[in-house]
Amino acid sequence: MRILVTGGAGFIGSEFVRATLRDEPGTRVTVLDKLTYSGNLANLDPVAGHPGLRFVHGDTADPLVVDEVTAGQDVVVHFAAETHVDRSIISATDFVRTNVLGTQTLLEAALRHGVSRFVHVSTDEVYGSIERGSWTEETPLAPNVPYAASKAGSDLLALAFHRTLGLDVVVTRCTNNYGHYQFPEKVIPLFVTNLLEGRPVPLYGDGDNRRDWLHVSDHCRAIRLVLERGRPGGVYHIGGGCELTNLELTALLLDACGADWDLVQHVPDRPGHDLRYSLDISKIQRELGYAPAVAFADGLAATVEWYRNNRSWWEPLKHRELAAAIR
Ligand SMILES: NC(=O)c1ccc[n+]([C@@H]2O[C@H](COP(=O)([O-])OP(=O)(O)OC[C@H]3O[C@@H](n4cnc5c(N)ncnc54)[C@H](O)[C@@H]3O)[C@@H](O)[C@H]2O)c1
Repeated sequence: MRILVTGGAGFIGSEFVRATLRDEPGTRVTVLDKLTYSGNLANLDPVAGHPGLRFVHGDTADPLVVDEVTAGQDVVVHFAAETHVDRSIISATDFVRTNVLGTQTLLEAALRHGVSRFVHVSTDEVYGSIERGSWTEETPLAPNVPYAASKAGSDLLALAFHRTLGLDVVVTRCTNNYGHYQFPEKVIPLFVTNLLEGRPVPLYGDGDNRRDWLHVSDHCRAIRLVLERGRPGGVYHIGGGCELTNLELTALLLDACGADWDLVQHVPDRPGHDLRYSLDISKIQRELGYAPAVAFADGLAATVEWYRNNRSWWEPLKHRELAAAIR
């Protein structure tokens, strides 16, 4: 099988590439990645030189490069996106360009080249916020922040390409991921790397916001199931069944890093901060036999250990970001 993986140098996309090359002998993977601040070729070091891997440095919103890399592919797994909510509140331009225009450019190329399946990787954030209960795949989208709005736009485009143009599209919506190789701006790697350096961690508001956590390897395993057996035009939720407030998560991270509460700085909540996300994952359990395999306590301990042992991966990224913030 020939797979085009967009965003394959990012956190989740690189896990998918590493796992595919490890577990699916004979599969040929083309990665298309713009290498934005969160894309990192070092994430593919474990598979560098693998005969099944081709890397193309390019933009999903560039029709020429997209046309070239899509030709001859059997399937597309589309991860590439601008992903950090805080950045989308400062400026949404890159989010609309990459998440909406980039997705449309890929969908058109996939249609033109007769790709047999297009998996569009999305997020629970497209639904907005829910105080009680869980969203099903039929719940209407109601995004609050620009990141989520741009992802919702891309989901709807992908589904429209199925309904109107007949492209075999499947959409996945997943809860918060954690694990190795996550850029240290997202809460778990930000807190862990700060704590390992003895620096304070910023906790938004009272820390009441609730998220469900899933190990990145479970997410990628679920995407593989959807790629192989998901129903054309279907939407599949993927979750971890581990819901925590940010305050509870902070306590676990302090404990795992051997740090105290005096390193926690309460900072004003960000605008439009969704209180709670919760996905009903019974459809993917029932139809595809999915269940998360990594218990949160084990996954978190392994993640902290990875950041402890891989300072050479994250220190340059953090110091580059800090230098950019000072300029
Ligand atoms: N991280 C999570 O918790 C989470 C949860 C649910 C869904 N998702 C979705 O999973 C996908 C991957 O998320 P992630 O956390 O790995 O993100 P990430 O920010 O770590 O990686 C994004 C990758 O996309 C690349 N990219 C960005 N713009 C591009 C463009 N225009 N052309 C080509 N490449 C481009 C970046 O260089 C980077 O390698 C996203 O679509 C995101 O919405 C993420």
